[in-house]
Amino acid sequence: LINDIKLRKIINSRGEETVEVEVYLSSGSVGRFSAPSGASVGKYEAKALPDGGVDEGIKYVEDEVKPKLIGNDALNQRKLDQLLKEVDGTENFSKMGGNFSISLSIAFAKAVAEETDKPFYEHLSDEIGYNPLLPLPLGNIIEGGEHAGEGATEIQEFLTLPLDPDSVKEAVLANARVHQEAGKILSERKRDFSGGKGDEGGWVAPLNTEEALNVLEKAKNRVENRFNLNIGIGLDLAASEMWDGSVYRYRRDLDKREKDQIDFIESLTQEYDLKYIEDPLDQDAFDGFSDLNSELGNSTLICGDDLFTTNKTRIKKGIKNKSANSILIKPNQIGTLTGTVEAIEMGKENNYKLVVSHRSGETSDNSISHIGVACTEVIKTGAVGGERVSKLNELIRIEEKTNIEVSNLRC
Ligand code: PGA
Ligand code: ZN
Repeated sequence: LINDIKLRKIINSRGEETVEVEVYLSSGSVGRFSAPSGASVGKYEAKALPDGGVDEGIKYVEDEVKPKLIGNDALNQRKLDQLLKEVDGTENFSKMGGNFSISLSIAFAKAVAEETDKPFYEHLSDEIGYNPLLPLPLGNIIEGGEHAGEGATEIQEFLTLPLDPDSVKEAVLANARVHQEAGKILSERKRDFSGGKGDEGGWVAPLNTEEALNVLEKAKNRVENRFNLNIGIGLDLAASEMWDGSVYRYRRDLDKREKDQIDFIESLTQEYDLKYIEDPLDQDAFDGFSDLNSELGNSTLICGDDLFTTNKTRIKKGIKNKSANSILIKPNQIGTLTGTVEAIEMGKENNYKLVVSHRSGETSDNSISHIGVACTEVIKTGAVGGERVSKLNELIRIEEKTNIEVSNLRC
């Protein structure tokens, strides 16, 4: 039984306003969640905040939602999430704000976990029935696009992914070391490099795509050799941000039609042995995605973020079209924990790899680490920076306290 709900305005890592929710149960258990926000937001995501921002959302939840939740003895996770959808009444949570619904939803789940004396990951994995595994961390090493200024790379994220580490700790340290090595390499080049970082902690430098990949490759080779590891390279192109309706726009390179964009990605994959490619094409390009997936999908994760927006209807379409082999999971894209789990289940049933993900504007909340342990093979949450390492360090703690094994992607 929910006894009380507290809502407060806090700030995220970009200094933007967001909400933190606490759900209090009559047993005395408490669950808390605070919601992140994106900069390269997909067209089909839940609307993060109502038009009037956090203040309007707080007022709406106080007046319209809280009275229906407090003392309601019929609530379980599914019913709570259903009720949130009904009260809001829109397709994309535009009245309440998806950041409010997801915060209520996850805070409730965490309160129930505390009531049953389980860590959140254990509660979740008991509910949905997958064997817990520590997810492999995708680290953001060089960053641009919507996460930095015009002087940065045009591609949003240059990533590394340790493929078969002995422990999650080794993998987290590996990404941090690649980040440090990349910083050293960029400083040696000096040209225009100020040491600045983007929203997710990746280095910001005036490089074209291939220059950035060369820096990344050199940095990861040093770490692989020194620590005897196998580290893959990945990209998030966040290509919806580049697509103008007829071409993908590049400032440091030629603009590309869809066919040229696909050729470009295929040649980068050959040259740099890319293991992970997220949003290579626009969010509506299901067919282009399936061309790429049929060429590269045997040895590379082709992951849909804006393509799927954690939405089972869009995922279903992707499965039918064979558009990808991997799904990015961002709980606030869909606005409830039930919606998040439905997306994960649909992916699992079709042998997709799941990647739970942070947003560029994050809080220090570490719930996505628990979601990752319960049900995803990979976690994408940066390599450095307080709001990123809060999640990575939680994985190290869970590893230390349990005998849960680390995932692997021997590809
Ligand atoms: P966002 O970007 O959080 O700014 O939407 C992250 C991503 O595209 O993966
Ligand atoms: Zn993305």
